[in-house]
Amino acid sequence: MNKQKIKIILLIVAVTVTACEIKDDRVTIPDPKEAVGEIKLGHEVAGELAGELRETLLNSIDASGFVNTITICNQWAPVYAQRVVEKYDGVTAIKRTAFRVRNPADTPDKYEKEALLYYNEKIQMGEDLPEYYIQRIIQAKKVFYRYYEPIVMGGICLHCHGEEKNINPEILKKINQLYPADSATGYQDKDFRGLISVTLDQQPEN
Ligand code: HEC
Repeated sequence: MNKQKIKIILLIVAVTVTACEIKDDRVTIPDPKEAVGEIKLGHEVAGELAGELRETLLNSIDASGFVNTITICNQWAPVYAQRVVEKYDGVTAIKRTAFRVRNPADTPDKYEKEALLYYNEKIQMGEDLPEYYIQRIIQAKKVFYRYYEPIVMGGICLHCHGEEKNINPEILKKINQLYPADSATGYQDKDFRGLISVTLDQQPEN
């Protein structure tokens, strides 16, 4: 085979490989040292959303009780998420997600499913929940990151997410009115509930 032919074959191989990479999304788990900026921003943003939701939840329960707080969660959860996205440059989306959701908008996409499975595996192996998980995703030639932090159930959460037989009938009625397809009950204290999922652009190295 002459050199020219070899060159052409190599070129065809290169083009085919590149084409496959573009067609298929690629997800890698970056070394934390190579994603310092993304981890820092993801952590800050996830903490802010979790803090705001918790404060609103507790204040509302204090002020107007559990049944009325269901409406508050329903109205404010998406508003807070939107506010965080607008506040931080480089953050393109934030949501809470789980395998069993109350709001259908929180249903996991394929990357989030992978992250949830990662956490479920850790639980099955009896390990502590990792503080975070991060993915570097190439989709349609664009690079972005997904940063996740786990959400864990506490005693107060069980009023609206615990075993159905233990939930006050009035609370359950209100939940079923607003979320006819609800599957976010049956949790126990300290259960892994799901993830905060932050979508962000690549951050500059510093
Ligand atoms: C007063 C009832 C109530 C309490 C108490 C409550 N939640 Fe919720 N939770 C809701 C409602 C309602 C939604 C749906 C909100 C929406 O429409 O976005 C929800 C949604 C969620 C979601 C988003 C995923 C999904 O299922 O849609 C997570 C995660 C969550 N709750 C975790 C918690 C945790 C953790 C606690 C305790 C700190 C808690 N909740 C306490 C009512 C409650």
